[in-house]
Amino acid sequence: KQAQLKLDPDFAIGEVDRRLFGSFVEHMGRCVYTGIYEPGHPTADHEGFRGDVLDLVRELGVSVVRYPGGNFVSGYRWEDGTGPREDRPTRLDLAWRSIETNEVGVNEFATWARRAGVSPMMAVNLGTRGVREAADLVEYCNHPGGTYWSDLRVKHGQAEPHAISLWCLGNELDGPWQTGHKTAQEYGRLAAEAAKAMRQVDPGIELVACGSSNSAMPTFGAWEATVLEHTYDHVDYVSLHAYYEEFDGDLDSFLACAQDMDQFIGAVVATCDHVGAKLRRRKKIRLSFDEWNVWYARRFPGHEHLESQHAPRLIEDNYHVADAVVVGSLLITLLRHADRVSVACQAQLANVIAPILTEPGGGVCRQTIFYPFAQAARFARGTVLRVEPTSPRYDTARFGEVPLLSAVATQDGEEVTVFAVNRSTTESLGLTANLRAVPGHEVVEHLALAEADHTLTNTVAEPDRVRPRVLAGASVTGDVLTAELPALSWNVIRLR
Ligand code: AHR
Repeated sequence: KQAQLKLDPDFAIGEVDRRLFGSFVEHMGRCVYTGIYEPGHPTADHEGFRGDVLDLVRELGVSVVRYPGGNFVSGYRWEDGTGPREDRPTRLDLAWRSIETNEVGVNEFATWARRAGVSPMMAVNLGTRGVREAADLVEYCNHPGGTYWSDLRVKHGQAEPHAISLWCLGNELDGPWQTGHKTAQEYGRLAAEAAKAMRQVDPGIELVACGSSNSAMPTFGAWEATVLEHTYDHVDYVSLHAYYEEFDGDLDSFLACAQDMDQFIGAVVATCDHVGAKLRRRKKIRLSFDEWNVWYARRFPGHEHLESQHAPRLIEDNYHVADAVVVGSLLITLLRHADRVSVACQAQLANVIAPILTEPGGGVCRQTIFYPFAQAARFARGTVLRVEPTSPRYDTARFGEVPLLSAVATQDGEEVTVFAVNRSTTESLGLTANLRAVPGHEVVEHLALAEADHTLTNTVAEPDRVRPRVLAGASVTGDVLTAELPALSWNVIRLR
């Protein structure tokens, strides 16, 4: 089978915003405790941050990290996580029925973020708290000093402001599971007022309003429209969340789930622009896809039956090769919408549906999904190019006919990189690319993630079963690139 694409700088979609390679640290399960933070671990630094995890976060190439939730934030009092550790309260976290010791709070997270070389993306609690507490947190984090909250931060040992520029106005408040769930009217009004107050504290911040928890919510579309009618002038982004899993052994449909992400983004863009047109605004609302990943949610029994524990093992999916290929196709989809999607956070960073797995007191491993993320974060630079693919198609039960090839490219000066997924589970796919508009390029390398057994995973005990390999055979003849994409594979073809 053969697929074709074109590489042409005239087909520019937009610039690669580094924040597309964001991640998410929630106080959930073992993401924080025994994930990024484990005092006493052999690699921990003097503040308890695991060095082995920090190394992998840097290798992953993460840009922004959303914190502290997630559902957790809707019951969170941020002040609990500040000041001397011995004075911090232990609370029952309602979202995940866990025990929260508050050993890690905003200052520790900001310190960890500096060490990891990432920017925090901070969420405020608009579930059980309101305008006052949200504005206070901005003052605590960002005001230089001379006021109650900023001086308290200084007293807590943080002389310099954290200068956090990206803020989420709550989390998934359309969801009945959310502590402090709201109607779109209620949330829209609250988010607008919180946004105004937070900007009165720091006019330089950017704000994300909550969109729907997923596109299957009964209020999807109407929620975004109502929320934006209230918040349009006060926010910069609306959020999208989506998780994908294989249903009933239907791998073909699972491999095509980026079709759903694509339609979801299109629908939210249309809704934003509809509200903008109604309000007669020239401003465009951009998208923050601040939770996305593969998550086998149906394996998770639900949190209402959980026994309250500190750092329980929650939703620690162990990802196989096909999951990594799906993650690759989702990254391609995000890049293909770089004109409107500016921020995207893979959920989450460590242990909880994460690219990084840890053992308490033990080792660490890169899950299969680590690799497409790390390679996209490293090589997707400069301008995103539409590649106008033509591809054989296959039938899926959930999405109808879908192309076998999913692809996008980026160009950064002399560097042109093609990102491509072959969805065929049985056959390799021949790829030719027309290089007439970028003449003189040669293949630097073709990297691929593919295994004969697509159910192979990495574990802490066996961390290197799955890893990308350099493939031979990709070449340029005249103005044509040819390459062979293995069955069920994620590919990066670098040209220069
Ligand atoms: O990432 C896990 C959970 O998924 C988050 O807490 C919530 O926002 C979403 O439903």
